[in-house]
Amino acid sequence: MCGIIGVAGKTEAVPVLLDGLEKLEYRGYDSAGIAVISKEGKLQVKKSKGRLCVLRERLRDENAPDGMIGIGHTRWATHGEPNDANAHPHLGQQGKIAVVHNGIIENYMEIKKSLLRKGITFCSDTDTEVVVQLLEYYYEKCKNLMDAVYAVLGRIKGAYAMGILCCDYPGQMIAVRQDAPLLIGCGKLGSYLASDVTALLAHTRTVAYMEDGEVAVLTPDSVQFFDRDRSPIEKETHTIKWDVAAAEKGGYSHFMLKEIMEQPEAIRKTVSPRIAGGEICLEELEAAPELIKTVCKIYIVACGSAYHVGMIGKYALEKLLRLPVEACLASEFRYSEPLLDEHTLVIVISQSGETLDSMAALREAKKQGAKVLSIVNVMGSSIARESDVVLYTWAGPEIAVATTKAYTTQMVLLFMLGVYMSKQLGHMDHEEYRTLVEEFSQLPDRAAEVLKDPDEYQKAAFGYFNHNSVFFIGRNIDYALGLEGSLKLKEISYIHSESYAAGELKHGTISLIEPGTLVVALATYAPLIEKSVSNIVEVKARGADVIALSTGETADKIKGQVSQLFVVPKVHPLLQPVLGVIPLQLFAYYVALNRGCDIDKPRNLAKSVTVE
Ligand code: AGP
Repeated sequence: MCGIIGVAGKTEAVPVLLDGLEKLEYRGYDSAGIAVISKEGKLQVKKSKGRLCVLRERLRDENAPDGMIGIGHTRWATHGEPNDANAHPHLGQQGKIAVVHNGIIENYMEIKKSLLRKGITFCSDTDTEVVVQLLEYYYEKCKNLMDAVYAVLGRIKGAYAMGILCCDYPGQMIAVRQDAPLLIGCGKLGSYLASDVTALLAHTRTVAYMEDGEVAVLTPDSVQFFDRDRSPIEKETHTIKWDVAAAEKGGYSHFMLKEIMEQPEAIRKTVSPRIAGGEICLEELEAAPELIKTVCKIYIVACGSAYHVGMIGKYALEKLLRLPVEACLASEFRYSEPLLDEHTLVIVISQSGETLDSMAALREAKKQGAKVLSIVNVMGSSIARESDVVLYTWAGPEIAVATTKAYTTQMVLLFMLGVYMSKQLGHMDHEEYRTLVEEFSQLPDRAAEVLKDPDEYQKAAFGYFNHNSVFFIGRNIDYALGLEGSLKLKEISYIHSESYAAGELKHGTISLIEPGTLVVALATYAPLIEKSVSNIVEVKARGADVIALSTGETADKIKGQVSQLFVVPKVHPLLQPVLGVIPLQLFAYYVALNRGCDIDKPRNLAKSVTVE
């Protein structure tokens, strides 16, 4: 939700902070700020409403803070509207301590009232300011920063990743983590903290992932870790293999377009290492055979686009495994008292691996004895670390808020898992297995064919970007695909849209279809193509303007019925949605481009939703 960065370094802090905030801006961008301890031990804070460029402008106009230890923050507002006062870092009223925070302090109002009764005044509406005022309150009493930090951690409840500076401790910075991601980087020129590895790559590839309850003390030459009881602990470090270029735009006008075009490579990186000798090899599962042999029910739990992967996966896995499979929204799953036991497999899908709703669902599942397998893109993320088994999509860093390559690689990996399990459970004949393995291998090239002529979608989008309401209709797996097509369009073009089961339209919603209404008909699922054609005729009879998506096999049934037809290569029915989504991504991208929207950072959104 927010991005935090900190450096305890041997060079000027401001350039490191601004560079890091630029990499983190996709996590939240309604305000930004930095705090630096000057060489004289003075805390200097600069913060502004608006994008990072507004802060940069301000630092150019005023004298930028000097000093080598600092913290920075890009905000996605939770408590308090986006303005200068609510921007982070927040200072205590003595001006001695500064804090940046990602997460939500659930009992902040109760603490705020107790501090107000003690005569402490506030200048913002945020929960974060309550933390820094409480910190200063304890610090004034005990005159020891770590004592004050642990006293505060004993009072606050909720999710927090925080960077803390105190002008009486000019040589150090403190990091704390609870239910919000925080990494510590160790480099030649200093120590770093960040919400996301992309903010550190320019300075170090050696990172440690903080766990819940841990506290770290960072100096330019060292990092000490402590557990929730303040006992010193040793942390394992990891080497990040992502290259910096992979996290840059690479000449594309938007990260989203770059990531759409990267999909063949992302699929290749996810599939190829898992196919050897004509077999699908999931070594992550070889150590946990019971996960497959004893499973009686599967839940696929996720949010947003990851949930849409689950909706498609439900159709696929039920066919492959002949087991009941439910796709659930994580935010609903955790409060629906699901009936789970040791024979339940819960598959959690998450690009960031930090979505709090999905994390909470994972913990609920484990509490009830279910086995948890996660499909995650970010290595070492919280969901990955708390799963019994994790399958990584090797899509590389995904920066655009609207997911594309993570979505397709999640889907491919989920299908690979289904085929692998089906073979293990003896439900798949050898011939079909070999065909599927071959089709997985060819999928990158098929995806590249769809991307051969993106202008086709740019031209089509030019004719439709002025619509205010768009319906996606489809049957079976096409309906689930429409959910993603609709979300992509809504997210980045701000056009209202919904995806409807085509057979359900006549039970009410068709009343909304009027002359000129744009309907996107998805008709790639061959067994129901006749039904899909009749649904197209149905909406056209009410004046709808219909564009459609088909395969080489279904195109002939539709050609001439619609004003625009996108055709993707025919592949195994199981894998068809992997190709089907690409035209929908490009259509949404070019519609948003024509509408002048901020495609990589859509309003009100953030890349990783780490609050409930
Ligand atoms: C998709 O384009 C959105 N950015 C959003 O729906 C996202 O898929 C959802 O928040 C889940 O994120 P995750 O995959 O990181 O858990």
